[in-house]
Amino acid sequence: MQIIEEIKACRKSIRDRQAKGLRVGLVPTMGALHEGHLSLIRAARANSDRVIVTIFVNPTQFSPEEDLAAYPKPLEADLAACLAEGVDIVFTPTADTMYPEGTQTSVHVTALTDGLCGKDRPGHFDGVTTVVAKLFQIIPADAAYFGEKDYQQLIVVKRMVNDLNFPIEVIGCPIVRETDGLALSSRNIYLSRSQRHQATSISRALFSAQRNVEKGETSVVKIIGEIRTTIEETGPCAIDYIEAVHPETLKPLEEIHGLARICVAVKIGKTRLIDNLAVDATTASR
Ligand code: PAJ
Repeated sequence: MQIIEEIKACRKSIRDRQAKGLRVGLVPTMGALHEGHLSLIRAARANSDRVIVTIFVNPTQFSPEEDLAAYPKPLEADLAACLAEGVDIVFTPTADTMYPEGTQTSVHVTALTDGLCGKDRPGHFDGVTTVVAKLFQIIPADAAYFGEKDYQQLIVVKRMVNDLNFPIEVIGCPIVRETDGLALSSRNIYLSRSQRHQATSISRALFSAQRNVEKGETSVVKIIGEIRTTIEETGPCAIDYIEAVHPETLKPLEEIHGLARICVAVKIGKTRLIDNLAVDATTASR
């Protein structure tokens, strides 16, 4: 496994492999790898001849009051996990390499970033699309793998790739959950025992909403109200949003008649957790 910090060496390494006719899959991450990240690596492995993982805690997607400094950086363990998964290249640039002095350009996707996490985290998606665009330039991979865990991020990156004609296929992968339903996240380690227990209410509420939609419930006000009650009755928390949105436009829905995505963001203590679930009213038994 090659560990590369420099941009030129990284690009050359990818191009050399593609010159041999090998298909390259890219998995962008901020490290602190868990089974969610590993599932993306496995999907990339299954569809590519060579897999490159990037580990870069991207400062531009954190706001000043967010947890950039505290973000976990277990590099040795991450490299060991990549090695065990058969990753070929790990790209670990420094912040100065990615954002040298004088940088002035960023990528902004418009309407899709207005709602959901875009409302609570101004500038966050500009940081994401800018770093992902840069990674796509540095690593001209054939396909890139993103988790549905960050559903809005996946849709926004797909839009950017389409709008800016990046010659890369973006592949979305399902959310990996703990056995009790909690979506895996690098931030789960911040939760105390009782908060960790409380956090399971999020997925429980989402799966219950999914069942209700399948039973014929169409009212988003009702669905959201039940999710809110299930989450709030487990203990103190601050709900940033609970929304049912169109799966592609991310526009909020008032009624669910077809496919929708229910998205939740909740702060438990200082830890902000997000989760989402696809619901399908067309399977409703009425
Ligand atoms: P990070 O939070 O490290 O996540 C990297 C990738 O892992 C993302 O595509 C995310 O959706 C996916 N992922 C995280 N938890 C998952 C889970 N439980 N199941 C499935 N996939 C999961 O997302 C980022 O980093 C950054 O914004 C990045 C795209 C790297 C740009 O800096």
